[in-house]
Amino acid sequence: MANNLANHTAIVTGAASGIGKEIAFKLLDSGVTVYALDLDEKKLHEYYSGRQDKAVPVGIDVTDEKKVNEVFQEIIQKAGKVEILVNCVGITGETNIQSHLVDTANLQKVFNINFMASFYTSKAILPHMVGNKYGRVLHLASIAGKEGNAGMLAYSASKAAMICMAKVQGKEYAETGVTVNALAPAVIRTPLVDMMPEKQVTYMTEKIPMKRCGTLEEAANLALYIVSPANSFTTGFTFDLSGGRATY
Ligand SMILES: NC(=O)c1ccc[n+]([C@@H]2O[C@H](COP(=O)([O-])OP(=O)(O)OC[C@H]3O[C@@H](n4cnc5c(N)ncnc54)[C@H](O)[C@@H]3O)[C@@H](O)[C@H]2O)c1
Repeated sequence: MANNLANHTAIVTGAASGIGKEIAFKLLDSGVTVYALDLDEKKLHEYYSGRQDKAVPVGIDVTDEKKVNEVFQEIIQKAGKVEILVNCVGITGETNIQSHLVDTANLQKVFNINFMASFYTSKAILPHMVGNKYGRVLHLASIAGKEGNAGMLAYSASKAAMICMAKVQGKEYAETGVTVNALAPAVIRTPLVDMMPEKQVTYMTEKIPMKRCGTLEEAANLALYIVSPANSFTTGFTFDLSGGRATY
């Protein structure tokens, strides 16, 4: 079957919380072996230790390029073949703040975690996927990267950079059997959103025409299609998950 994921191997970053965890769990339910990467080793073991046959928790800071390269080489050696990379690590940094007040170090931190980490992981896996003539890379971007949310310069700009990375990588590997896409959700209630000032969350939620937040289930369902063999003629694209906010 074109969307059959059974026996595939995936690396999911940010797998100890929110969207990354939901995607990792759905992949596991579809028969995929999942290397679940996150900083939070305690939560990784709590969530994945019961699924030891297929789930491999890996504590790692994905902003450490050297470590990313080491871990990815180990995974490739152990798994033999990795078909899927989903980049879910992300932080908002300071929000509800105008651009002239943005702290430079905070903005750099957001870029480091959101953009640079996804660059490191995709750089580490793309040669392997190209060698296998098959691969699915998904970068978790955001509606903020398409629209530019006021009060969220660092986050919005870092997500725009991820959207552009998907466009560039999609074109570069278009003839190799590897697709690279992004996903742009609006608001989905996770610890990332819960940590934001309520005023900023209200600003974002009120812009959603469906007048509700997205669900983890909705995010994971779309993500699973994007990383499946069935998604074979779409690359460099940013899939929308915004309840009607982005109609382009
Ligand atoms: N929740 C939303 O409304 C929403 C909307 C649009 C986009 N997104 C994006 O989706 C992705 C997942 O978001 P979420 O809401 O599930 O967030 P979350 O905070 O629930 O999970 C993020 C995970 O990333 C991990 N992490 C952070 N820094 C790390 C690092 N340096 N190395 C390894 N792991 C690290 C955290 O420990 C955490 O488990 C993010 O990229 C986010 O920007 C979320």
